[in-house]
Amino acid sequence: MRRRDFVQGGLAVAANAALQVPAVQSAAPPRRIPYGSAVRGDALVDDFEYRTALIDRCQLIVPEGVLKWETLRPSEDRFDFYYGDKLLSFADQNGMKMRGHTLIWYAAMPEWTKSIRGGKASEKALTKHIHTVVGNYKGRIPSWDVINEAIADDPRGSDYLRPNLWLENMGKGYIETAFRRAAETDPQVQLVINEYDIECVGEYFKNRRNALLRVVRDLRDRGAPIHAVGFQAHLKGQHEIDKEGVSSFVAELKAMDVDVLVTELDVIDNLLPSDEKQRDEVIAGRATDLLQAISDANQPTAILTWGITDRYTWVPTWFTREDGSPNRPLPLDRDYKAKPLMDAIERFTTPA
Ligand code: G3I
Repeated sequence: MRRRDFVQGGLAVAANAALQVPAVQSAAPPRRIPYGSAVRGDALVDDFEYRTALIDRCQLIVPEGVLKWETLRPSEDRFDFYYGDKLLSFADQNGMKMRGHTLIWYAAMPEWTKSIRGGKASEKALTKHIHTVVGNYKGRIPSWDVINEAIADDPRGSDYLRPNLWLENMGKGYIETAFRRAAETDPQVQLVINEYDIECVGEYFKNRRNALLRVVRDLRDRGAPIHAVGFQAHLKGQHEIDKEGVSSFVAELKAMDVDVLVTELDVIDNLLPSDEKQRDEVIAGRATDLLQAISDANQPTAILTWGITDRYTWVPTWFTREDGSPNRPLPLDRDYKAKPLMDAIERFTTPA
């Protein structure tokens, strides 16, 4: 079974299972392409409407934070799966699947990891983390972001990888090692390299796509188990989508038998018009352009937004608006009313 079928097949099985057990709340109906959202556990507990919106609309969830080292690894010896397990049971009880985010990322690392030094010690720490975490969720998480944001912010020549603990200590082979460790732990799981700022027009975005292709090609040449590229798709509303660039990027990946998915879609609107209707149209238009450009070359295996409601979003942390009005980056507004972005996503995910 191909991994893409595993994810979608798993969703169908989950939906049937939910139908046979009346006590369990029913899942959102299966879609042509599964739709999902990043989830915050505290909001899930406190906000009934949030919980309901996720159950009604999502076939997939992904924890926004609790599977990062910062939460999972309070100390070198401890693994804390409490919050991840809670979200997974929420998914299970409601006929959804849960993706894993993320095994290796330069950010959200606990202080104690600063003491990891040297090639051997680093490889040992990376292996222990991946074996334990992927192993804990073996057969229960069908898709993992193995490496998040591996590309240098402004890749040039041989400096195309983002510095992190693993690159410094193990060299660029850390990427291959991470994929191999994940595959040997759960051979059924879809293994993803996830990246931002690869969607829009301009040299900066093009260089980043090319650097990512270089990494994927290198992994493929070495026979490493990589299955998909994740477009984070934190789209900056003021930039146009590079439709040709995205389509040919996806086509090159397809030629290497590498799938694509959209992992963290939202549209950053700090530089968009004040008028909400106008703003929402631009936001939906950007997402449509991206989803169309991807679909023209290959159907994404899933589409996830980084949150479902403007009530809970990371965007204002960095991109507040000068006019003081709240950001509107997500498919539902703060009162859970669907916006044009939701319709745009549904056009791609719902069966024709
Ligand atoms: O949990 C603490 C809380 O106890 C404390 O009171 C509060 C005070 O600042 O901080 C809380 O932790 C914050 C956490 O989000 C939970 O809200 C962290 O400071 C904050 O750094 C963390 O930010 C997250 C960030 O990744 C770093 O992990 C964002 O919510 C999350 O949206 C963001 O997600 C990333 C993806 O993983 C990768 N792609 C980009 C995306 C957006 O930046």
